[in-house]
Formats: sequence, C-alpha cells, structure tokens
Amino acid sequence: MPFAALLLFAAVPAVVHAQAAATPASKLYTEVCSACHATGVANAPKFGDRAAWAPLIKEGQAVLTAHAWVGVRGMPAKGGRPDLSLEAFSGAVAHMARAAGGDWKEPDAAMLARIRAEEAKRIAALKAKK
Ligand code: HEC
Repeated sequence: MPFAALLLFAAVPAVVHAQAAATPASKLYTEVCSACHATGVANAPKFGDRAAWAPLIKEGQAVLTAHAWVGVRGMPAKGGRPDLSLEAFSGAVAHMARAAGGDWKEPDAAMLARIRAEEAKRIAALKAKK
C-alpha cells in the first residue's frame, strides 16, 4: 500500500480546513514558539538570528519542518503542543525562517505531503537507532 499516497489524501482536506480557520503563523509563533525561540531557551535558534538559522534554512523546508515536528534534542515534538496541526506548525516554522532571511512560503498541499514523507523517514531513522 503506498503509504505516501495515503498521507497526501489525509493532508489535502486539512489544508482547506486550515485556510478556513486561519491561525496566522505569527500569532502561533507568539503564543507558543516564542516561549523558547525569543530568548534562545536551551539553545533554541533565536527569532531573527540569521547566523543561527542559516544552516537550518539550508536543510530545506520539508526536512527542517519535519525534524522540528518530530522533536530534536531540546525542541519538544510539535513545540510541546500535541494539539497543533501540521499545517499550523509548519506555518510557524516558515514564519521563523522568513524572519531570519529565508524565502519560505506557507506550505501548500504539495509541501505538506513532502513534510509528511520526511516525518516518516525521520521516525524510521530514530527507531532504527534504538
Ligand atoms: C520548550 C521550548 C521550545 C518551544 C516551546 C519551541 N521550541 Fe523549537 N526549539 C527548541 C530548542 C531548544 C531547539 C534547538 C534544538 C537543538 O538543535 O538542540 C529548537 C529548534 C527548533 C527548530 C530547528 C530544528 C532543527 O532541526 O534543528 C525549529 C524549526 C523549531 N524549533 C520550530 C519551533 C516552532 C515552530 C515552535 C512553535 C510551534 C517551537 N519551535 C517551539 C525549543 C523550543
């Protein structure tokens, strides 16, 4: 069964929904992410810090968003908010990347599918390490 195809179908209605009930990325950043990313708690890359974000932006939107979504070191999965949708979360990542000079757009359905694919890869890689 093509798993990625399933994910794609799951992602499309969610995007439509996210647009209908718009949670602006900047608002989500302020409410959730800024708790750590404004001051750099536990070495979180600071908002607007181009030097800190340059290597992260280089990883690419799909890979970086997926890694942050799954959680990496001090970065809790989903920013510590398990109720967040991937759409909302990835919008906040793009918002932070733009603030540090990246040219990242709000993810569309194709980008969300790529993020889901990277998420699956990341989870598999983490499992293999255990
Ligand atoms: C509890 C603190 C905390 C919160 C809240 C938080 N982060 Fe983070 N974040 C971190 C830390 C710490 C790192 C650095 C992890 C590392 O590389 O060691 C990080 C790293 C990241 C990275 C880079 C990941 C990588 O692969 O290096 C992204 C992207 C990110 N956060 C996005 C977000 C978004 C979006 C939100 C809000 C929805 C958020 N964070 C909320 C602590 C937090």
